[in-house]
Amino acid sequence: MKFYIDTANIEEIKKAARWGVIDGATTNPTLMAKEGRDFSTVVKEITAILDGQLSVEAMGPEAEKLIKEAREYAKMSKNIVIKIPMTQDGIQAVKTLSKEGIKTNVTLVFSPNQALLAAKAGATYVSPFIGRLDDIGHDGMQVIRDIMAIYKNYGFKTQVIVASIRNPMHVTEAAKAGADIATVPYNVLEKMFTHALTDKGLRMFSDDWAKVAKSSK
Ligand code: G3P
Repeated sequence: MKFYIDTANIEEIKKAARWGVIDGATTNPTLMAKEGRDFSTVVKEITAILDGQLSVEAMGPEAEKLIKEAREYAKMSKNIVIKIPMTQDGIQAVKTLSKEGIKTNVTLVFSPNQALLAAKAGATYVSPFIGRLDDIGHDGMQVIRDIMAIYKNYGFKTQVIVASIRNPMHVTEAAKAGADIATVPYNVLEKMFTHALTDKGLRMFSDDWAKVAKSSK
């Protein structure tokens, strides 16, 4: 399973990159706007830090505009993946881009049928937003399980990026469902490291280690 960091914040990316377990990053217009910085500069900085794929979003909304934006962004780095919205124009754009070898990530996916259409068009990745589904009283993780089953049935190569992750349980459930990738906000990644018993055990070991005689030889 791959872990991406879901942020456009350089400090968070730098800190997470040091752990050595982050395979890439995903951004969206909201995450970019939050940084209040120039788009190209942020993209350059992220690709210099992370040796993995970086998703950036094309806005279109028409297919021609999405394709134009995608071609431009793809030139910025070999690691760029273009997020394309789940619309009729978006799927049309994905079909063209996949023939050109430009990697796509179909975003704002909320149903198995949307994921099926994205795979048919040749999307490299599909991003179902599970947290936003949970927010409206749906079962986001069931959508992931359904997509995994459908892709397996037909041997689709499109990889599933579980997005809109809100807590560590979402990551565990995504892994249990066999999702290819989880894109995780920095604060959730940090929580994945911790356990109260780990902290307690460390304190005990540290106290006991101080009682052990250590020869200077
Ligand atoms: O990057 C897309 C997705 O992860 C957004 O998450 O928290 O805005 O629903 P959220």
